[in-house]
Amino acid sequence: MEFLICSRIVGRWLAVAVLAISGPRSLRDAADSAGVLVGAAARPYLFSEAAYSAALAHEFNMVQPENAMKWPDLRPTASGFDFRDGDAVVRFAQAHGMKVRGHCLVWHQYNPEWLTQGHFTPPQLSHLLQEHVSTVMKHYAGLVFAWDVVNEALDENGRFKDSLWYNQPGIGMAGKDFAYVERAFRWAHEADPHALLFYNEAEGEGLNRKSDAVYAMVKDFKHRGVPIDGVGLQLHISRLDLDTAAIAGNIARLTALGVQVHITELDVSLPLDPSGGVSSEDLHRQAEVYRGVVRACLQSPGCTAIQTWGFTDKYSWIGSHSHGTRGAALPFDRAYKPKPAYDAMIEELAGHHK
Ligand code: XIL
Repeated sequence: MEFLICSRIVGRWLAVAVLAISGPRSLRDAADSAGVLVGAAARPYLFSEAAYSAALAHEFNMVQPENAMKWPDLRPTASGFDFRDGDAVVRFAQAHGMKVRGHCLVWHQYNPEWLTQGHFTPPQLSHLLQEHVSTVMKHYAGLVFAWDVVNEALDENGRFKDSLWYNQPGIGMAGKDFAYVERAFRWAHEADPHALLFYNEAEGEGLNRKSDAVYAMVKDFKHRGVPIDGVGLQLHISRLDLDTAAIAGNIARLTALGVQVHITELDVSLPLDPSGGVSSEDLHRQAEVYRGVVRACLQSPGCTAIQTWGFTDKYSWIGSHSHGTRGAALPFDRAYKPKPAYDAMIEELAGHHK
């Protein structure tokens, strides 16, 4: 036994020493030694592109389908489920020793037309949602370790958005604030008691009305035993003067409630010049934002994963989302070459041992 403990300590010491001498060979190398997960959102139809697959597998120890586990992908028609794209992400992860984060079971956007235009009543919607949560989570039980159960339910004032699931017409909980979220988390826990259940939110990363509302909801859920394990902070950033101290503060108060925090959708978009280029000054300022976010996460032991929304500028939602005005948001350029943002991430991770 003593020998075992001793050899483990020596093994770990050797690993740290090797990293110190040679430097980490990848983000996942550095993240492993820091004791956190580092992930990227991925599109399974790109796995056939060798450079895409090689970079994803080499650099990340976690992967999340960007769209392949959303409603329209899993349920393109009313009559059944299609798990092929989601399964492809799981197979990729298994082949490369990566964890899979699932995203997302309840979202007001990006739903199939048969659902949004179906004129369903609240009892029918409630049935459809429970069936969805249960079927999808059981299919991926033991394969997906954490799920974004509910995504972006709040507006910037911290009030529940009008939505299909809440009140238009909703699943029967209209006007009852947290109740529809609670219902979804309880269904999720029944479907797969081992999965970590996250509430994922945009623009509630620092300290503001929205993050206050998330905090109040998590506090209430923990107090009443509603099964919630974590909060996802998206971090789609479009300003280079980000207040990372406020983000660290928000992470600290959330983790103090006993939940984990995952950084789930990090990207830092830059304005593009008319020829589609960015300035080297902006690339360096962008790197400092990445550094600040990684540092804010590593400051709290309960912040356990850092994930970017894609990883190469070749494939990012920012282009279409900003109508071509912004881009270059990710740590690798369009030719898969690491950018200053990548160096900043790896430096922060390598300098930290949990
Ligand atoms: C985006 C995808 O990146 C796009 O490809 C898709 O067209 C729309 O959804 N917040 C989320 C993500 O939680 O699921 C969104 O992803 C980006 C914003």
